[in-house]
Amino acid sequence: MSVQNYLQKGLQQDIHQRFKTKHRTPWYNVPVVWIPEGVIFKRSHLYPKLLKNEARVLFTDTAYRICPKEGFNIDSIIYSFYNSLTLIFCELNGRFYGGGVLELTPKEFKGLPIPYKSISEEQFLDFKKLFTKSESIEQILQQNDTQLLIGLELTSSDLERLREIRQKLLIHRLKNKMNLPSLIKHWGIAIQSSFLDTSVSTPVINVASVSQRSPFRYPGGKTWLVPRIRQWLSNALTKPQKFIEPFAGGAIVGLTVAFDQLADLVILVERDEQVAAVWETIINTQDGAEWLANQIATFELTPEAAEAVVSSRTRIIRNKAFKTIIQNRINHGGILAPGAGVLKHGENGKGITSRWYPETLQKRILDIAKIKQRLKFIRGDGFEIIRKNLRNNKAVFFIDPPYTVSAKKAGARLYKYHQVDHEELFWLASRIEGDFLMTYDDAEEVRALAVKHRFETRLVAMSNTRNTTMTELLIGRNLDWVI
Ligand SMILES: C[S@@+](CC[C@H](N)C(=O)[O-])C[C@H]1O[C@@H](n2cnc3c(N)ncnc32)[C@H](O)[C@@H]1O
Repeated sequence: MSVQNYLQKGLQQDIHQRFKTKHRTPWYNVPVVWIPEGVIFKRSHLYPKLLKNEARVLFTDTAYRICPKEGFNIDSIIYSFYNSLTLIFCELNGRFYGGGVLELTPKEFKGLPIPYKSISEEQFLDFKKLFTKSESIEQILQQNDTQLLIGLELTSSDLERLREIRQKLLIHRLKNKMNLPSLIKHWGIAIQSSFLDTSVSTPVINVASVSQRSPFRYPGGKTWLVPRIRQWLSNALTKPQKFIEPFAGGAIVGLTVAFDQLADLVILVERDEQVAAVWETIINTQDGAEWLANQIATFELTPEAAEAVVSSRTRIIRNKAFKTIIQNRINHGGILAPGAGVLKHGENGKGITSRWYPETLQKRILDIAKIKQRLKFIRGDGFEIIRKNLRNNKAVFFIDPPYTVSAKKAGARLYKYHQVDHEELFWLASRIEGDFLMTYDDAEEVRALAVKHRFETRLVAMSNTRNTTMTELLIGRNLDWVI
């Protein structure tokens, strides 16, 4: 439609008689329209776009018009705008909505600190080319940060930190709102753990406040996580039908869930024959718990007696269970894997008896037997049980596989079965229709897998038996309940 026809149509519809048009001459003239030298879009996704209006177009209120003050020019303003510090202030001054979009008002935009540097026309042309050549805004920022911020007496490690801060703010804004792998692509760099949640804001759990239910002292045991498990499950809308612990070990989490009746049924799975023998005896065998408790209560623990039990070769499950309990109590750190050393001095020079509390063990075993209708133990592969229950949306999984980044406590020394396909495990977790919670050492490789599957991560504090505070990474689909 030609402009003439368009105006004619307006006249036919009496648009010229309306409130605003009646006061304009000619009626179709829109006042306060001027062609800006530059514009900034009110809303943005990965970063605000400040553009030069080379096409001399008019803008509606989706973009703010920019007219440089005297002594400044638009090329240099645009160039100086793209640096990590200014973009951090965009994130901080602006606000974002549910969908993750960032919005800046004119006042907020005017309040942004811009380390202004005057550049030539040629420099601006080169700068413009960067936007077509670069794979991500990160590359542009990297270059501009050095050019603009070094002048502010910031060191290169300060610049690194600024970039991390901006990326952290960006993740916070866009979390769950976009495909994280594509976010990484935009950055053109891998996510480093430091961008995410290095600061632990959650309180450290006092392990002494948690009832010990397991007869094991287990390497990598998750007693410290018990309060969090309660938080997690109490946050669910309905009580889970099945609570599955595919890498049960000492099973403190699963046992607590069964004792506290936080799920209808708890399924424990463990591959290690020795550990499994204990659970089979207590949970799956008629009178097994009573037998085992009695063996423990009547056993006189001496180095010779212990040696006799430990060196015995037996195929009988309950004997194997007893042997396992003894080994677990006399070995360093409760380690059952081949090559584990025996406690020589133990606590207060008590040697192998320093961890031997027969009455406590007896009670724990008998208590578990009392709730065995809510427990099921399977000796086998944790992966299998996950696969079998993937589609059950009333099943929740607590996944604590053998994994450690620390060279000192290499997984191989802690567990006989320490090799697990973590890629596969994350993939399986992504197909779980119910809920799940995983716990891992905080490692780059683990975080990358979490990002790949769009899982959330939270670094939480834990204290070990020596009261040293350490951190552990929780992984799940939605960790809003972690407070
Ligand atoms: C980190 S530990 C679990 C500790 C446990 N959450 C606790 O609090 O005591 C990992 C356990 O997974 C077991 N494991 C390794 N591979 C397995 C597999 N494929 N299926 C089942 N269990 C496995 C190991 O024997 C070890 O006991």
